[in-house]
Amino acid sequence: MPEDIHLKINGQAVSAPAGSTILKAASSVGVEIPTICYHDYCTSNGLCRICVVEVSGARTLTPACVAKVNEGMEIQTDSPRVRRARKTILEMLAASVDLSDAPDIQAMLVEYQAQPDRYPDAQTRSPEVIQDNPMYIRDYAKCILCWRCVQVCAEDAQFTYAINFSGRGYRTQIGTFFNRPIPETTCVFCGQCIGVCPTGALKPKKQWLMEQGQTTDEIMRLTRSQRRAKTKKTTQPAPEGGAA
Ligand code: SF4
Ligand code: FES
Repeated sequence: MPEDIHLKINGQAVSAPAGSTILKAASSVGVEIPTICYHDYCTSNGLCRICVVEVSGARTLTPACVAKVNEGMEIQTDSPRVRRARKTILEMLAASVDLSDAPDIQAMLVEYQAQPDRYPDAQTRSPEVIQDNPMYIRDYAKCILCWRCVQVCAEDAQFTYAINFSGRGYRTQIGTFFNRPIPETTCVFCGQCIGVCPTGALKPKKQWLMEQGQTTDEIMRLTRSQRRAKTKKTTQPAPEGGAA
């Protein structure tokens, strides 16, 4: 049984088991800290920084989803400095990514009075929607690079490693090895990546086609014909001398 750590959150005395994150300790006393990249069933990587809090004596703001509680800590979760940081993060996100399918983040934009037009020269990514399989589409114009899909595809759940980060810097995005179409990867179409995606960047193909205004007949035709094509392709013998 881990010993309890004693700290203060927004002036309130809190006890939390050693090893708890600030996020969990705060939640245990009803103090909710906003999160974006964090997911209860994924490994936290502290990527988006929306969960930053102010820890007395610390030079920089601290990401609550990864930082552990320490004895005697004094934490402010909603100070002006914290709110200003969150507002800026949200503005930069909204200025460069299509968040139209991310209602939770949209609510944060309102809560923090974010003004994405403060960054009029921000470059947006606008890659084509990828439709390379009958099950789901990938719309990376909506991707915030939270890494959840990569993690559930790997050690957090599925151990299939079909996707990962590709590219560097501004060109970083989620991709497959050698940019191969999904049916040519190790993907088993479990759907877990879609389930954890917070922005609609990954979406069931049927849902996406409905949103495009396609009729039920057309949706059946489009998804079934692709499925047949995939089956045909995967049952063909591999060419002599190596894989695809
Ligand atoms: S596709 Fe979705 S889950 Fe994957 S990194 Fe982008 S936003 Fe996150
Ligand atoms: S939620 Fe903590 S860094 Fe993203």
